[in-house]
Amino acid sequence: MSIEHLAYISTAAPDLTDADLRLILDQSRRNNPRQRITGHLQCHGDLFFQVLEGPAESLDALLEKVGNDPRHADLRLLYRETLTRRNFANWSMGFGPCGRGQPLTGAGRRLLGLRDGGPCGARRALGLFLSLLDASG
Ligand SMILES: Cc1cc2nc3c(=O)[nH]c(=O)nc-3n(C[C@H](O)[C@H](O)[C@H](O)COP(=O)(O)O)c2cc1C
Repeated sequence: MSIEHLAYISTAAPDLTDADLRLILDQSRRNNPRQRITGHLQCHGDLFFQVLEGPAESLDALLEKVGNDPRHADLRLLYRETLTRRNFANWSMGFGPCGRGQPLTGAGRRLLGLRDGGPCGARRALGLFLSLLDASG
């Protein structure tokens, strides 16, 4: 069975609370192992960036659910491709510090630019994502 890898960005709901975020993480960490999904969720300003890895059918089902979740909007898939080895094998859902309400750093801004700039290369999106992780320590 092939393992795929995808990343998307979306905009958090304006009234999203820390409790909402904790619930999203609880749900992810409970559900993802059952579906053999691993990944990382990064929250930056009001921007969500999530990388998901797993069997194609599991990703399809999860995207459907997440795409209809009112806790965020304007979900934009950045890339999706087949993977030979997981990047986040040990994380049912890693989480990056949030900094909600803080201005976006350069990497965050460039991710927003991708949203308006149409499809982009997986490597470019992953590079920006990794620099966001660095920026948030
Ligand atoms: C930004 C964001 C990321 C999410 N990521 C996941 C995820 O990785 N796995 C998951 O099961 N649910 C995730 N959710 C929650 C789903 O949309 C959905 O509410 C949840 O899976 C329902 O869980 P349940 O079927 O156990 O009630 C996410 C929601 C948001 C807003």
